[in-house]
Amino acid sequence: MSNNITGDDINALVTFLGHGNPILTQSRQVEAFEEEWSEWLGVKHSVFVNSGASANLLTIAALKHIVGDGEVIVPTLTWVSDITAVLHCAMKPVFVDIDPRTLGMDLSQVLKKITSATKAVFITHILGYNAITQDFVEELRARKVPLIEDVCESHGATMAGRKLGTFGWVSNFSFYYAHHLSTIEGGMVCTDDDNFYEIIRMLRSHGMTREAKSAGVRQRYAEEYPDLHPNFIFAYPAWNVRSTELNAVIGRSQLKRLDANNKKRIANLKLFLDNLNPEIYFTDFETEGSCNYAFTLVLKNRDDQLRDAIMEALANAGIEFRRGTSGGGNQLRQPYLRKLLANDEAQEYPKIDHVHFYGFYIGNYPDLETDNVLRLCRLLNEVGRGQEKS
Ligand SMILES: Cc1ncc(COP(=O)(O)O)c(C=O)c1O
Repeated sequence: MSNNITGDDINALVTFLGHGNPILTQSRQVEAFEEEWSEWLGVKHSVFVNSGASANLLTIAALKHIVGDGEVIVPTLTWVSDITAVLHCAMKPVFVDIDPRTLGMDLSQVLKKITSATKAVFITHILGYNAITQDFVEELRARKVPLIEDVCESHGATMAGRKLGTFGWVSNFSFYYAHHLSTIEGGMVCTDDDNFYEIIRMLRSHGMTREAKSAGVRQRYAEEYPDLHPNFIFAYPAWNVRSTELNAVIGRSQLKRLDANNKKRIANLKLFLDNLNPEIYFTDFETEGSCNYAFTLVLKNRDDQLRDAIMEALANAGIEFRRGTSGGGNQLRQPYLRKLLANDEAQEYPKIDHVHFYGFYIGNYPDLETDNVLRLCRLLNEVGRGQEKS
C-alpha cells in the first residue's frame, strides 16, 4: 500500500492551523465534512467518528436501543469489529457463509436464517464488491428486517448506478490508512433516519443530550429531567468516539479527489483480473459497480503447496499481502469467537474456509502503475505454472 495522504492534504492542514486560533476538537470542520460526505454519498445524515470500528459499535448500540435485544445476521468474512460490535451489545451473531463471486454473504442463506428474533442483517461489501441485489433489499423491506451496510472497504462502489451505503437503513464507512479515503483514523455512520441520527450523535459523545441536533429532542430531555442542567444530561450509557477537526480537514481535502482515485483503482482491478491465469486463480468476481482498495487473489483449487509458494514469491519480491482476504478469513476460526462457539462450527462454512486457506489480498492504490500490475500477474502466473510442473 502507498501513502494516500498527500502534500495537498498536509497543505490543507497547515492552512487550517495557520489561520487565527482554530478550535481543534470536534467543531465546524467535522460538521462540514459530514455535510460534504452526505452529499457525496446521497444520504440525509452522516456522523463522523474516530474509526470504522466505532461506527460499527455505535450502529449496533443504536439498533439495540431502538429495536431491543435479539439476533443480528453477520458474515463469516468481515472485519472483526462487525461481529464484536454485536457481542459488545450483548446481541447474538448468526453466521452465514459467503458467495464466492462477491465474497459477501450468501443471500439465500441470509433469507433462510431470518427468524422472529432477527433484529437486523449486517452485511459487509467486501473489498469493493457489491454484496446485495435489488431483490434482496426489497425482500428484507417486505419482511421488515433492517439492513445495515458496512461499506468500510467499498467507498464509491455502486449497484445499478447508485452508491452502496444508500440502500440500507444505516451504513458504516472507515477512513483508515489503506482505504479509498483516509483521515489517518476515522469512520462515518450514515442514515436517512432522523431518530437514528440523533441517537448516534449522542452515543458518540458520552450519551449527552446536548449533542442532539434537534432542539426538540434536547428540550424533551430538559423537560423530562428538570432536576438536571441541560448541559449535563446523559441519556445513554455511551462512549467518547469523537474525532478532531484535524482529521476532518484531511477528509475534506481527500474527498475532492476520491472519485478520480477510485477510477484508477477500478481500472487496476480490471487489469489484474484480466491478466491472471483463470485456470489457476478464481477470476470470476462480480465486478459490476465494484470499487476496491485491494486485489482479491483466490486459488481455484485447494493446493497447499501453491499457496505456500505464492507467499514465498510475494515475500521475496517485497509485495505485501494478507492471507484470508478481508479481516483474516473465516472469523469463526479466530480465538475471540472460538471460545463462544462449538469447536467445529468454523467448518460448517466451506466457502469461506476455502478463502481462509487459499485466499489473499494485495494492495491496490491510485499511483500503482500498469507495469507493476502486469509484473505482479506475471509473477503469480509463473508461480502457478511452476507448481503445475513440479
Ligand atoms: C469491513 C470493515 N468494517 C470495519 C472496519 C473497521 O474500520 P477501522 O479500521 O477504521 O476501525 C474495517 C477496517 O478495515 C473493515 O474492513
